[in-house]
Amino acid sequence: MHLILLGPPGSGKGTQAERLCKQWALPHVASGDLFRDHLKRETDLGKLARSYMDIGQLVPDDVTIAMVKERLSRSDCRGGAILDGFPRTRAQAEALDLILQELGQQLTGVLFMAVPDDVLIERLSGRRICLQCQAPYHVAFSPPRETKTCDLCGGELCQRDDDQPETIKARLDVYQQQTTPLIEFYQVANLLHEVDANMDIDQVTDALLTIIHSLQP
Ligand code: AP5
Ligand code: MG
Ligand code: ZN
Repeated sequence: MHLILLGPPGSGKGTQAERLCKQWALPHVASGDLFRDHLKRETDLGKLARSYMDIGQLVPDDVTIAMVKERLSRSDCRGGAILDGFPRTRAQAEALDLILQELGQQLTGVLFMAVPDDVLIERLSGRRICLQCQAPYHVAFSPPRETKTCDLCGGELCQRDDDQPETIKARLDVYQQQTTPLIEFYQVANLLHEVDANMDIDQVTDALLTIIHSLQP
């Protein structure tokens, strides 16, 4: 089962992917998390990615596609994966079709998580993530048991560099311009399922699970 979580920054892709992956024992393939891991290790790709991420722009398609292709080709993705934050452009969506074709796999569905902009800003402004495992928290909506410590791995929590007001605005603009065309792309392919993601975290999970169950043979 290969699922895509499609949605604006702050729509809850990372939060929900973590839950869905646990339920189906699937790997969580999040392009943003992969880039942040490169940033932390100070690889050449990390240095390149930082120059785009810091200003809320997309990392160029060629390097992004190559990174995700390598990840999806690993043996743990043989049974599927939950994709979070990829694809984000038409070129990436077309490349994903080819990658899955080469792997003898196909896309099961695309879950589009709809949330109004003012709610997104509130969510991103209060987000904290784990420096170690990247699990997302929110100071008000999803607080950790102990402030500053990840419930899952004990790692230290911090604010993402790109969760500053100007960068949030740039990311929302980039999403509007470059990623929203994918809604129609997947609608035409008959793969799109819209979820109202402006509900409590548990309610969104339930809505996603209902759809995913309906997609399974
Ligand atoms: P990426 O890391 O993918 O960031 P994003 O798309 O901007 O999405 P976010 O991670 O900000 O939001 P999310 O939907 O995961 O929300 P979350 O669950 O954390 O990308 C970062 C950068 O990397 C990009 O700007 C780009 O530069 C680069 N990049 C990545 N992928 C790329 C690609 N494919 N191509 C090119 N460049 C790429 O939730 C947000 C907050 O809300 C949390 O605090 C959470 O606790 C809270 N929350 C979640 N759900 C709810 C709810 N239902 N109610 C209340 N609060 C909630
Ligand atoms: Mg995320
Ligand atoms: Zn952690």
